[in-house]
Amino acid sequence: MKSSIPVLVAAAALAACQPVASDPDSAVAATLPTAPAEQVAIWSPRVAGLLAEMTLEEKLGQLNQVAGGRSRNLNSRLTPDELDRVRRGEIGSYLHVAGAAPLGALQQVAVEESRLGIPLLFAMDVVHGYRTIFPVPIAMASSWDTDDLVTASRIAADEASAAGLHWTFAPMIDIARDPRWGRIVEGGGSDPYLGARLAVAQVTGFQGDDLTAGNTIMATAKHFGAYGAPIGGRDYGTADLSERSLHEIYLPPFHAASAAGSGSMMTAFNDIAGVPSTANEHLIDDVLRARWGFDGMIVSDWNAVAELINHGVAETRVQAAALALRAGVDMDMTSAVFANDLAAAIEAEPALMADLDRAVGHVLTAKERLGLFDTPMAYHDADREAAMLTETARAEARRIAARSIVLLQNRDGALPLGAGTGRVAVIGALAEDASTQLGSWRARGTPDTGISLLDGLRDEAPAGVDIRYASGADPRSDDLSGLPEAVAEAMAADHVILVVGEDYDLSGEARSRSDLFMPASQRALASAVLDTGRPVTVVLVSGRPLAIPDIAERADAVLASWMLGVEAGPALADIIYGRVSPAGRLPVSFPRTTGQAPFTYSEYPGGRPADPDLSNDSNRFHDLPITPLYSFGHGLSYAAFEYGELQLDRTAVAPGETARLTLAVTNTGDRAGDEVVQLYMRDPVASVARPRLELRGFARVALEAGETRSVTFALEPAQFAIFQSPGVWRIEAGDIELSVGASSADLRQSARLTITGDGVSDRPATAIATGVEVE
Ligand code: BGC
Repeated sequence: MKSSIPVLVAAAALAACQPVASDPDSAVAATLPTAPAEQVAIWSPRVAGLLAEMTLEEKLGQLNQVAGGRSRNLNSRLTPDELDRVRRGEIGSYLHVAGAAPLGALQQVAVEESRLGIPLLFAMDVVHGYRTIFPVPIAMASSWDTDDLVTASRIAADEASAAGLHWTFAPMIDIARDPRWGRIVEGGGSDPYLGARLAVAQVTGFQGDDLTAGNTIMATAKHFGAYGAPIGGRDYGTADLSERSLHEIYLPPFHAASAAGSGSMMTAFNDIAGVPSTANEHLIDDVLRARWGFDGMIVSDWNAVAELINHGVAETRVQAAALALRAGVDMDMTSAVFANDLAAAIEAEPALMADLDRAVGHVLTAKERLGLFDTPMAYHDADREAAMLTETARAEARRIAARSIVLLQNRDGALPLGAGTGRVAVIGALAEDASTQLGSWRARGTPDTGISLLDGLRDEAPAGVDIRYASGADPRSDDLSGLPEAVAEAMAADHVILVVGEDYDLSGEARSRSDLFMPASQRALASAVLDTGRPVTVVLVSGRPLAIPDIAERADAVLASWMLGVEAGPALADIIYGRVSPAGRLPVSFPRTTGQAPFTYSEYPGGRPADPDLSNDSNRFHDLPITPLYSFGHGLSYAAFEYGELQLDRTAVAPGETARLTLAVTNTGDRAGDEVVQLYMRDPVASVARPRLELRGFARVALEAGETRSVTFALEPAQFAIFQSPGVWRIEAGDIELSVGASSADLRQSARLTITGDGVSDRPATAIATGVEVE
């Protein structure tokens, strides 16, 4: 928006009745509630009482999280020695443990036999399901439906809590714009607004409205703050970011998770411009705690406190202990630096004692909020544990999986395949790989509980569809000896379903790839099958956007199916056979080639904005179209939708007021389907350049054939605000362009809204939820 008064004057005007401040930032900040210089934690009487009674060793014990081993049924280290450690109060929490009975026994020792009876916290990465595995997070993000995320997280919490778990290391809410980064599979994609909404949904699902209930678990928003932006997409690498990018892109989901009451946060492994997040006092203390008011527990990532030495900011474990504690880390995941080396740090620097008490206070408060002091055995319910993976849970997994599939292209209505399609060749080893469908972080999910794509397509085939199968080639191998058989099957088929991509082990932690094309064997298989000239639907299996230019050019239909969980096969069948109209939308763009990454639809225009005309020098590659292969927000349907004109209930709005934008959406197709209505903003002139487009709202709307519904978005000027400094977001007077459409590359209608005055907000613009009503 164009500021009618220059920013500095605006700032001074706003501060008119405030104490004189020469610095414009502090003048603006003075209009907002000031953050306390230092967080003064107020403990409950129980926590304060314990703090007063605890020895130094007992305090250090509470900060110590140890791994219980990854054995399937038991805490593998439940040895007599281990129980003694619990009795002595040397352990505050276990991770990677499970089992109502063994954990119950361990808890009993803690509460009955340790001096102060402080309960243990049991944790695991319950990311997209515990026993009932849902689609991987990037897939569920593609449903663009926060209710789906609430449901999946709720079921995951229900199952995990029955097995004795109190705490999950999820949601992973790192914004990721570089598909080379393997952990893009674990998050909600590339956009801070969508990411913030998905973060809140998952926190809500895991924690419910009563954290003390025996079937809710504490969430962990991770990895604070810019783990998803490593240079080159290499996991664990430096994020070298501007303050603006950090606050406008990477932090808003964390702000939203904090505001939604996430019980804990995890610091990231990596550093931001040389400051490791595990020792980032500014980010943790000033931003997260003081500005945002986060009062939950902060846990380091695995061994990350010790790794401060590798980062080169500590020479010894004692220094590492002091750095992490002072920065605000409360619990040390597995490095035992706090347990073994913090005492020496405190001896050298007694002022750290106050930091230690604060950290212990946070850990005890987390236990108290979970109800563990009053009902420590609430989470050890063998009956509930025996009843996991219920029909209801599976039905939800199937429903959500079908809603997560994205129809990328569909030439001449190639899909759905109706009754009587005839002989259908399913080709590709990934089709029978139920394990890959579970993706990374599968908690206690097992492949034998999953239904492969092939089985689903076979079992659910309508009359007159005869499924044949050839494995062709496996992504894990270069063996192409299966190609001739695959080609023969394809030649003989009326339609080919070609299942290609990555297996589960090619994405996830430490699984970054330098190449965004499919593995060689998959490319060879795709090319051989496409060469047959038969009608081909490609089902792309992956944990990241892949570069598939040949497939895009030659296949009739393409589905991004990601990895769909235990009900993968039936869900795919629902889409392919047309029982459900696809409505997934991409939460991240698909690049044309590796060199296009990182990519965002939301870039700054620059002085020479990208121009498709190659004879003009502009911000683009000389050898590549300026657009991605498939844009953020893209996804097709079997139905068709029309957008009515935008109606604003006012054309001008002042800070603090709300404007309502209404439009009609009509299903003009001949079958039911969901449309994901997307609202974008553009601020054409402002005191700093703004991205050419930014998501600010969305609604997944179910429409019968011929039905029209009206969608209303409620917007306030704070949602267009510009980052100024942590805690200060500047609202500038001027115009905002609002566009609504079916993707970031398919805007259908637009309107202008004028912000009538300057103002300030204390929240990231994208962390504010846009009100949506669908009638
Ligand atoms: C990952 C975290 C995870 C932790 C515990 C680390 O390697 O980065 O996301 O929560 O392990 O499993």
